[in-house]
Amino acid sequence: MSTPALLNIRAVKKSFAQPGGGRLPVLDVPQFDIAAGEQAVLIGRSGGGKTTLLHLIAGLTTPDEGSIRVGDIELTELSEAGRDRYRASMLGYVFQTFNLLSGFTALENVRLGMSFASGRHDLARAHELLDRVGLADRADYRPSQLSVGQQQRVAIARALSSKPRLLLADEPTANVDPASQQQVIDLIRETCRDEQIGLLLVTHTMDVADQFDRVENLADINLAFKAAAGATH
Ligand SMILES: Nc1ncnc2c1ncn2[C@@H]1O[C@H](COP(=O)(O)OP(=O)(O)OP(=O)(O)O)[C@@H](O)[C@H]1O
Ligand SMILES: [Mg+2]
Repeated sequence: MSTPALLNIRAVKKSFAQPGGGRLPVLDVPQFDIAAGEQAVLIGRSGGGKTTLLHLIAGLTTPDEGSIRVGDIELTELSEAGRDRYRASMLGYVFQTFNLLSGFTALENVRLGMSFASGRHDLARAHELLDRVGLADRADYRPSQLSVGQQQRVAIARALSSKPRLLLADEPTANVDPASQQQVIDLIRETCRDEQIGLLLVTHTMDVADQFDRVENLADINLAFKAAAGATH
């Protein structure tokens, strides 16, 4: 039996209005799929559209055209409120810029990830996740009292807190030292494997990418990139 699909992207295009006028085509992706529980890494040059693709999958932005399905849900048919509910129920997201809430402690930030999802406040799981990211002794610290790498680890704990079906992680090791980097990757991959969470992880670090069975270069799946490259010749 084949593994059921978790993510199906079909003929998705996304462009942005340029400050000087006109539109910049960033993504033209005919097809991109992730199976349930699959772990894939996405690489590509800076400015190539990796974060844009993750934002589309998260329903934070909408494509100009095309279809994005996650499980049974067609994201392009959802209202903004529907996309909020989709994110809360199915998605974990580690932002490139963390997006922690500054008025709350590390522990509260992790628990907020759960309350958005289900109204649950699983204190034991929040403590366990902080422990797993090596921050058991920083539970009561606010983001401004944490180092950048520590903030990144809180963001990872928060993204996993609601047991999502799909985790999107945008350079989750960009701000941690090489030793902690491996711990963070192991934590993400083990938790995703144990809880059958599909994973799409963006990285610039080849040491990280090499650990994954599936490595996708955005340039290979994105025709907009090929069109832009062709136009320069
Ligand atoms: N809101 C926006 N308005 C206009 N242009 C945008 C917007 N967001 C992104 N872009 C443009 O889209 C392109 C892709 O940006 P994106 O953030 O997806 O790149 P990236 O692959 O994540 O890069 P990095 O590796 O540096 O994080 C960039 O050229 C950027 O200028
Ligand atoms: Mg990015």
